Amino acid sequence: MAKIIIANWKSHPATLSEALKLARASDIKTAVIAPPYPYLKKVGTLLKKAALGSQDLEASPSELKSLKVKYVIIGHSDRRRLGDTDAIINKKARRALRAGLKVVLCVGENKATRRKGLSAAKKFVANQLKKDLAGIRNSKLEIRNLAIAYEPIWAISTSKGGKPDTPKAASEMISFIRRTLNSKFKIRNSKLLYGGSVTPKNAKSFLSQPGVDGALVGGASLNPRSFHAIIKAR
Ligand code: PGA
Repeated sequence: MAKIIIANWKSHPATLSEALKLARASDIKTAVIAPPYPYLKKVGTLLKKAALGSQDLEASPSELKSLKVKYVIIGHSDRRRLGDTDAIINKKARRALRAGLKVVLCVGENKATRRKGLSAAKKFVANQLKKDLAGIRNSKLEIRNLAIAYEPIWAISTSKGGKPDTPKAASEMISFIRRTLNSKFKIRNSKLLYGGSVTPKNAKSFLSQPGVDGALVGGASLNPRSFHAIIKAR
């Protein structure tokens, strides 16, 4: 099955016309394009092959659906830094899932935690999952629509000097997340993605790891050539 590659443009590009140009160049089947909220409507109208994603539950689920949004990223580290607590993230995830949107829940540890080792990072991520997915296990929510993106915070954004995780450690964490979803939440069909400085150079090494179902790509998705190369690597 084709792996999902999500373009998370964050607050780029600077103008609508650049955004439309980028969207036109990135309109590839099975890709997901998540532009900044102000561009959502126009980008959604333009896309013919890629699916539209929103970078947060930035409006009500029905409003987002009316803009043709299919995927919603929730719990990205930028939003957590701006004040989204696990309780807020849990509410947003439940609301979006209830409305039939596909949720991409981001989890991941910071540098200080990772310095203590991968076991400490796993414990941290397990705790995030416990809080962010509270109540989702036994509900009738459409859990097939849930994807988890493992994004170690320290690995995000090469432009700020970040380095990606190693494919081996990322794959180990992703297997751990899969086991945790299965044993603690009875969630079996979720897609698990890696995010954090994915580039054309390293995409294949992440995407070929067992259990990695796709990638959440920030910086490299702003350059259509890089984005295409990442898509090709899956
Ligand atoms: P990056 O961003 O690829 O630029 O590291 C990933 C993300 O923030 O989702």
